[in-house]
Parts: sequence; C-alpha cells; structure tokens
Amino acid sequence: MLDTTALNQQRNFFDGHADIWLFGYGSLIWKADFAYLERRPAYIQGWERRFWQGSHDHRGTLESPGRVATLIRAKDSICHGMAYRITPEVLAPLDIREKNGYLREKVLLTFLAENGEAAKQSEGLIYLASEDNPAFLGEAPLTEIAQQIANAHGPSGPNKEYLLNLATALRELGATDAHIFDLELQLSRI
Ligand code: BEZ
Repeated sequence: MLDTTALNQQRNFFDGHADIWLFGYGSLIWKADFAYLERRPAYIQGWERRFWQGSHDHRGTLESPGRVATLIRAKDSICHGMAYRITPEVLAPLDIREKNGYLREKVLLTFLAENGEAAKQSEGLIYLASEDNPAFLGEAPLTEIAQQIANAHGPSGPNKEYLLNLATALRELGATDAHIFDLELQLSRI
C-alpha cells in the first residue's frame, strides 16, 4: 500500500487560506462526517468518475478488494458532485482516512445555482487516486466490476452500499453519470 498521508501534508495548495473548497465526487457526496461551513452542488470540468480504484481498507479486504470511485481526465466531460467549504484542519483526518493512494489535487469548481445553471467558480481540492498508485485497478468490463462490487465487504460496509448510495445521491442532485448508472443496473442483475 502507498500511504499518502505524509505526501498529502506537503500538498498545501491553499496555505494561508482561512477556508478551502473540497469537492466530493464519491462517498463525500452523501457522507460528510466532518464539520463544514457550507455545502453547494458543483461540478468539475475535464474529469469523469470511474470505479477504478481498489479498496482493501474500506469497502473490501486484501483477499477480496472492493472498488471505489476515482477520476480520470476527459477533456470534454464534466463530473458532478458536492462542494464543502471547510477550515484547513479538516483535511488532516481526511488524509488519514483516504491514505490508500489518494492525493490532494487542485481543481476549478463550478457551483450550480438553484435553477441548475452554472454560477460562480472557485479553486478547490479533490482527493485523486491516479493510475500510478498501487491500489489502482483500472478499467474492466462493467459486468466484472459489478460482480466484484457485489462480492466485496470491508470495515466501512458492503461495497454495493457505496455504489447504490452514490447513484441515489447523484439522482438527488439531478446529475447523470452513465458509468455509475450502468454499474447500478448491472449490480441489480446479479
Ligand atoms: C470523494 O468523495 O470525493 C472522495 C472520498 C474519498 C476519497 C476520495 C474521494
């Protein structure tokens, strides 16, 4: 495992800022177990969500790793999620929780107004698991990914709960994501 905790403590993109926007595209959309000042639906451009990161510490085990979300670069795509305005000290526990390959990355967020239109923009942070981290599993047929998710359970619960909660949260945001909704469908067939 690549423990990214110490690396992330050096990735101080917003040093000196009193608050930081953190963009959640996975479990953070529906489960924010940290203090935040404000939360707003937002999207990031140039990224697509994928169940390509392995999880043997949260949603699976070493023997039967689960799969969780990460982002891949895709120039013309947008990825919807939830932005949280936090104070900087909130990041340290997240660095520890997401230590299995996720690194802080700076992105440009676009907030959505009540009517769903793009409103103002701000720089923010994501936690990104890129393909060079040891837990990265990468692309596989959707049926195989769904089967792996159906089989995996970890300390944070069943892997399928993560996928189903994410799909529900995206629907509540009025967002579409073909990868997530197709996986949800494949899972329902198992
Ligand atoms: C997210 O929801 O954005 C997220 C949560 C944990 C690790 C990486 C991303």
